[in-house]
Amino acid sequence: MKAIMVTGGAGFIGSNFIRYVFEKTDFQGKIINVDKLTYAGNPENLSDIAAKFSGSRYFFEQTDICDKEGIANIFKKYDIDTVVHFAAESHVDRSILGPKDFIETNIVGTFNLLENARNYWGDRKDVRFHHISTDEVYGSLGETGYFYETTPYDPRSPYSASKASSDHLVEAYKHTYGLPITKSNCSNNYGPYHFPEKLIPLLILNILAEKPLPVYGDGLNVRDWLYVEDHCSAIYTILTKGKVGETYNIGGENERTNIEIVNTVCEIMAEKHGKEKDFYKKLITFVKDRPGHDRRYAINCDKIKSELGWKQSVNFEQGIRKTVEWYLSNAQWIKNVQSGEYKNWINKNYEKR
Ligand code: NAD
Ligand code: DAU
Repeated sequence: MKAIMVTGGAGFIGSNFIRYVFEKTDFQGKIINVDKLTYAGNPENLSDIAAKFSGSRYFFEQTDICDKEGIANIFKKYDIDTVVHFAAESHVDRSILGPKDFIETNIVGTFNLLENARNYWGDRKDVRFHHISTDEVYGSLGETGYFYETTPYDPRSPYSASKASSDHLVEAYKHTYGLPITKSNCSNNYGPYHFPEKLIPLLILNILAEKPLPVYGDGLNVRDWLYVEDHCSAIYTILTKGKVGETYNIGGENERTNIEIVNTVCEIMAEKHGKEKDFYKKLITFVKDRPGHDRRYAINCDKIKSELGWKQSVNFEQGIRKTVEWYLSNAQWIKNVQSGEYKNWINKNYEKR
């Protein structure tokens, strides 16, 4: 790997991944961050990396992944040999309100990247297209069982259907054109730089403002939470040790109901603010459920653990504390994000039950 194109590198996981590669690995090449800067893209997420490496090993290109010429030029300009494809519309609630952008970016954008990779690389086998996917493509579990790499796809939201579609395209390019791909399907991430429309950062910011904490439905939906840096280490492990053509599930093995997450965040925030344990729980507000809300996700990640030797380094208790502490130490980041469109959107889009 000499020149990695990271798509969506200004978003939550992409920016953590770029920082991880520069700071925690022995990678010596260049990273080209290709991001359209939608509402979720925040170049400030990488201000430290840009200050150290911009123009030498870090390059930012504000380009839409659907832009055929734009992407072709970037492949050529930097002689890209590796693509790590994060760019997507990522928020399920937004996909319910307006699926169109999800179809364009997640499906057509992925198609455009695959076409460009195929055109630029030809038959080369010393290159890699790594596609980031989600556990949501597998559908919803009952009270028991796990998602395996072999679990049939059963997406339920426009978001997960668009991700499933892009995954199928990536597989099709492997089988039809021999494109050297790998794929990973990951569970819910949390950690620094998470855009505050998603549950955990939304809770932290609402507690700071003493605003209601919206819990969808009965709060008993289950997610499997993974600290974002552990997701980044898993992706880097796949890039360096993964078998071409394979898919790897990545998970936190940390199943929690949403209400458990809400209670935990309330308790840590109370401790940090010197309040009694249950002080912020009065803000909990049960609201109308998300349509088609998947009940339970749980990833089996034995394959990446046994075949590639990856494992999580942070358990949930450590990770959630680190996350809360990061938000409490980054007031300016929060302020900058809150002055954007997000604030109005969130206020408009949940209603009290
Ligand atoms: P995010 O919404 O925080 O970031 C997405 C980034 O993509 C933003 O910087 C945005 O500007 C950029 N982008 C959007 N449309 C684009 C376009 N047309 N062209 C170029 N850039 C564009 O998302 P995230 O949470 O960091 O998720 C990254 C990837 O990981 C997504 O593919 C998502 O499906 C997947 N994933 C996320 C999670 C999670 O818990 N967040 C879990 C599993 C998989
Ligand atoms: O599972 C992986 C997926 O995790 C990724 O593919 C998505 O990109 C990512 O956004 C995330 O999707 P979720 O829908 O699980 O994340 P979200 O933070 O939106 O919601 C987590 C759970 O909390 C979910 O069950 C819905 C619930 N929720 C969410 C919000 C924003 C609430 O109860 N209240 C809220 O205000």
